[in-house]
Amino acid sequence: MKTFNPLSLKLLKTLTPLVLVFFVGSISAAEGGPCKDYGDCDEFKYSLNDTESLQRGAAVFLNYCYGCHSLQYSRWGRVAKDLNIPEELFAENLIFDSSIKMGDLMKGSMSKDASAEWFGVAPPDLTLVTRSKGDDWVYTYLRAYYEDSSKQYGVNNLVYPGTAMPNVLIELQGNQKLVCKNTPVIGKNGGEKRDDSGNTITKEKCGYLKVAEGEGSLSKAEFDGLIYDLTNFLVYVGEPAKAERERIGWYVIFFFIIFTTLASLLYREYQKDYH
Ligand code: HEC
Repeated sequence: MKTFNPLSLKLLKTLTPLVLVFFVGSISAAEGGPCKDYGDCDEFKYSLNDTESLQRGAAVFLNYCYGCHSLQYSRWGRVAKDLNIPEELFAENLIFDSSIKMGDLMKGSMSKDASAEWFGVAPPDLTLVTRSKGDDWVYTYLRAYYEDSSKQYGVNNLVYPGTAMPNVLIELQGNQKLVCKNTPVIGKNGGEKRDDSGNTITKEKCGYLKVAEGEGSLSKAEFDGLIYDLTNFLVYVGEPAKAERERIGWYVIFFFIIFTTLASLLYREYQKDYH
């Protein structure tokens, strides 16, 4: 007869809630809507080995965002080194305060109290924002501003309705508006509905973002590219060792495969002595 093992019961008791938390967590994450009125966030795939994208992202950040947002857990020198930017070039072109040293933390240039007074909320530090909100969220948020004259800065945001942050990139993007569009009505079978003479039946739907042709200094594709680089840079800042960690990860898996093969061959060799 099998003896009852109290240890395995204990293990089961500890593991069950963990497993449950894991499943419940993944269900609620799948339940859409983190991007609020925008619907599902647009997908973002970082590419941390693309140094040029990271360099462009850093330049955009320091020119357009650093005036309000700090990156207080990063140091200037580390960013310059990781992004392959020579220190003199970095200091000359991207650091707008000559008293800053390469070893300093990127503490931002605005006092928290003054900015809280101006905006109602202090602009948060952005070092970890892609980890707390998700890179998809940040990528979508920065592209989801639209004109709304009822708001303080004349803009609102689909992803973060009522945000206290103005649309600081409006010059580049152009004035994005919410527009309505005629969209085909989809029938129960998943196809477009047509009337008796074969024309597609359409219905007006609103809530689409659109920039008038030629308004911003960048085209839509160029602007999306700029936000891509910016978000990519913020992913890097959130975990500077991420690219290195993922690179080493492959070696570790490779090692496991080799080791498992060798170990199982050795096991077979030893087995021969028993039979
Ligand atoms: C004029 C000051 C100002 C500038 C410049 C600015 N922001 Fe903001 N930002 C804010 C304020 C204020 C908030 C807080 C909004 C709120 O919570 O309502 C904010 C919030 C954010 C958030 C949301 C953070 C969170 O955790 O909720 C992100 C992401 C962000 N900003 C990114 C950027 C980026 C990227 C740039 C540069 C393109 C930028 N900001 C430039 C003032 C600014």
